[in-house]
Amino acid sequence: MSSANTRNIKDANQKAATRLYPTRNDLPEETRAKVVAVMNERLAELIDLALVIKQAHWNLKGPQFIAVHEMLDGFRSGIDAHVDEVAERLVQLGGTALGTVQQVSKNTSLETYPADIHRVEDHLKALADHYAGAGKRVRKSIDQTDELGDADSSDLLTGVSRTLDSNLWFIEAHLQESA
Ligand SMILES: [Fe+2]
Repeated sequence: MSSANTRNIKDANQKAATRLYPTRNDLPEETRAKVVAVMNERLAELIDLALVIKQAHWNLKGPQFIAVHEMLDGFRSGIDAHVDEVAERLVQLGGTALGTVQQVSKNTSLETYPADIHRVEDHLKALADHYAGAGKRVRKSIDQTDELGDADSSDLLTGVSRTLDSNLWFIEAHLQESA
């Protein structure tokens, strides 16, 4: 693809990121615009998280392999469902969901997941950090969207937060010794 074409696509993507479509939804336009921006940030982190769950699922080696390998497939399904909910919510508000790998890479605020680890414990620790980062931001956005007057997005994010906390508990239970 020529560099001019690449530039045109990047310009079009930039416009899509900020354009707000009209809707009969009665939330004020300003509220919808702000919520769309917040939800696209959380969407990027949830897609990032979904990808690294599989990165761990594929590359794990060592004791507890099969238990963790299978556990992570269940986690991935749960996160995928939330990815869909968040993306569709922001489209309902007139936005455009930014789900390409380039947009996700640009918009996620999570640390880069290490690609050179293999031990089960190392993956669990890296995943716990990723979950904690995503959970912290989702919890903040529950309040942000509530304060913006969008109780539905806030409620949706509360469900996401519960899943993130539950998954984090499962991961940390593998890392903590019993008293
Ligand atoms: Fe698999």
